[in-house]
Amino acid sequence: MLPVGSLLDYDFAAGTLTLRTAGAQLSLRFLAPDLLRITLLPEGRQMRPSVAVLPRQWDDVQVRLDEGEEALRLATPAMTVEVGRDPVRLRFYGRDGRLLAGEASLSWGEGAVAWEQVAPPEVRYYGFGQKPGFLDRRGRAMTHWATDESLHTPDHDALYQAIPFHIGMEGGRAHGLFVDSTARVRYDVAKERADRLRILADDDYLDAYLFAGPAIKDVLARYTELTGRMELPPLWALGYHQCRYTYFPEARVREVAAELRRREIPCDAVWLDIDYMDGYRVFTWDRERFPDPKQMVADLREQGFRTVTIVDPGVKVDARYPVFREGVAGNHFICHADGELCIDNVWPGRSAFPDFTRAATRRWWGDLHREFVNDLGIAGIWNDMNEPAVFNERKTLPPTAVQGEDGARVGHDRVHNAYGLLMAQATHEGLRRLQPDRRPFLLTRSGYAGIQRYAAVWMGDNHSWWEHLLTTVPILLGMGLSGVPFVGTDIGGFQGDCDGELFARWVQLGAFLPFCRNHAAMGTVDQEPWAFGPEVEEIARRYIQLRYRLLPFLYNEFYKSSQTGLPVMRPLLLEYPDDPETANLSDQFLLGEDLLVCPVYQPGATARMVYLPAGEWVDFWTGARHRGPARIVAEAPLERMPLYVRAGAILPMGPVRQWTDQPAPAELTLQVYAGADGALDLYEDEGEGYAYRDGGYAITPVRLSGTRLRIGAPEGGYRPTRDRLVVRFFAPGRVVAAERDGRPVTFRTAADGAAEVVLTEGTTDACELSFRVEG
Ligand code: GLC
Repeated sequence: MLPVGSLLDYDFAAGTLTLRTAGAQLSLRFLAPDLLRITLLPEGRQMRPSVAVLPRQWDDVQVRLDEGEEALRLATPAMTVEVGRDPVRLRFYGRDGRLLAGEASLSWGEGAVAWEQVAPPEVRYYGFGQKPGFLDRRGRAMTHWATDESLHTPDHDALYQAIPFHIGMEGGRAHGLFVDSTARVRYDVAKERADRLRILADDDYLDAYLFAGPAIKDVLARYTELTGRMELPPLWALGYHQCRYTYFPEARVREVAAELRRREIPCDAVWLDIDYMDGYRVFTWDRERFPDPKQMVADLREQGFRTVTIVDPGVKVDARYPVFREGVAGNHFICHADGELCIDNVWPGRSAFPDFTRAATRRWWGDLHREFVNDLGIAGIWNDMNEPAVFNERKTLPPTAVQGEDGARVGHDRVHNAYGLLMAQATHEGLRRLQPDRRPFLLTRSGYAGIQRYAAVWMGDNHSWWEHLLTTVPILLGMGLSGVPFVGTDIGGFQGDCDGELFARWVQLGAFLPFCRNHAAMGTVDQEPWAFGPEVEEIARRYIQLRYRLLPFLYNEFYKSSQTGLPVMRPLLLEYPDDPETANLSDQFLLGEDLLVCPVYQPGATARMVYLPAGEWVDFWTGARHRGPARIVAEAPLERMPLYVRAGAILPMGPVRQWTDQPAPAELTLQVYAGADGALDLYEDEGEGYAYRDGGYAITPVRLSGTRLRIGAPEGGYRPTRDRLVVRFFAPGRVVAAERDGRPVTFRTAADGAAEVVLTEGTTDACELSFRVEG
């Protein structure tokens, strides 16, 4: 590797500082006052268009260049970059004038570029996409190379997703770095040398973005402004999903659906894994197993279920199969340098792989969904094996296969990590075209930075191990800190046999994950919620029902996430960045800002330690109050997962439904946790379609001050109906009287201590409720 040497000359034009050094050009450009793009381009090399960064015009940034003798300084009000002249080294300073981590140096070699930066001992490192282990990755070496890896142990860290983005934090002060390379990227986070962060990309150039923060939320907001945010999903996608490898024939699918309804376990979707297809040919059906898919999908819909089908990228090599023939004719498949099709084995046997880097191929692929969505009524698509995974030693395509638009072809190894993202983009855009009035729902296994724009993501093939229950939360929190909010793991575990206690604990946790799907591998024991006997079934029912009651809250959090880029499922450090206790805390998490979820990870456990950060916290189950910061021992018999609500929170809840759009009386419950002042702006819309983009949504402002609650009328173009409005007031003492707009109203005290007021008239009018509290 050749370090960038001394500065030969430079120019500063149109906001870009271009520095020439022997053999390479370095450019620095502020896209925003706190966002700097850094590009190192060795001579004679070509850059590829980014698949992560949204094309957009950034506003001009006021930048000052100071040409010092030792160094150049390029400054905005939020950040300064200092460029040493000999050698060229970079130092970044935040708004407060303090260094962000330490000095960085760049180097390049044959097919590789590197970023090396001082890693002061106080800096902790978060993000990195999908990585096993705990939150702070300091001391770890990691590889970003999308891989079908079933072990998910700490030393198998190259999993399905590759997101070369991280956040460095020093106390509450954060910065971020995104290395936009779809090739293999290796990180050494102060492992080999305790004071160095080293990033090595097997790429021709380095295209990096530095985020100056200073708050962690600032970094995430900017990162998702750069790479995009999750679109608001359809409401049904937030329900419970029932999957298995594989439900077939049709009679089995119908049986599972009927059991869910009979047992009153709410569910919105049943999923079909690969065995619905004819010999694993994508976009076909095995007509013996599924003689009339359209009828089946319609009958399921009648019972409130949506049907989601898996679609893998591998296209069976079969001269009689139209998708293969069209793909060849349209030049859509990845080839070797000599033009031969690149063929490898995956589920269908010998298969060809669409080159999703080509716009025409993405369009072709998207349109292939026409029959599924427009004729058969398939509601969602599940993209799997899209690392792409193949059954050989390398687990993927050869590095020498070529991809790209005509005239801009590169080896597969340069764009490997983009495969899942581009496939998801093709699918998402296809669904948008085919059903312009529906919000696409897509689940993907592989992805790259920006995948949040197109798909929900699950963590692939975990095991039914307690150890994998424990890693669920940190791995998903890492995804959230990498811009991807709609995430989940296979509830109950995919591989291996689950048991009742493990399932109970997993479903309790799963009910609070952004994406909530039960899935299990072929050959493992049944894993439907009733498979482990009545006690576990009852636990599953209660927690899944609770998820449905919490849907107004969850949907509101998804809406906020689609606006801000902040995750739905949050590590405590996001809300309490100055509290050192939160720095590596990942066995409990927050949903939004208010709900603290504390899963149980051990067989036989009937209690667990919970950390409550500053403020007052109310036990969701009992109404008991605790003052943080504190560690408490929470009771956790099998039927209970500890849950706490922040004082000041107003949780919007709804009735239990068996599926999200089941007709039922419209009831909104506000669970109000007095003890601190609070605010809720409740977002509501139709839960489907795009009317919300033209004002078809409502926001209901609710304000809590002391023991007074002001509920505003819904504002906006959507009119929510509320047959009943229930206010459940959790007071720090005993409620002895309640008034609505100055007149006494009746209330009852519920078992969990809430004073409950039920309004059946004027339920969308502005009103004020006040409570008199004693003790
Ligand atoms: C992969 C997926 C898994 C799926 C199986 C069969 O292993 O990760 O979820 O069930 O393939 O399609």
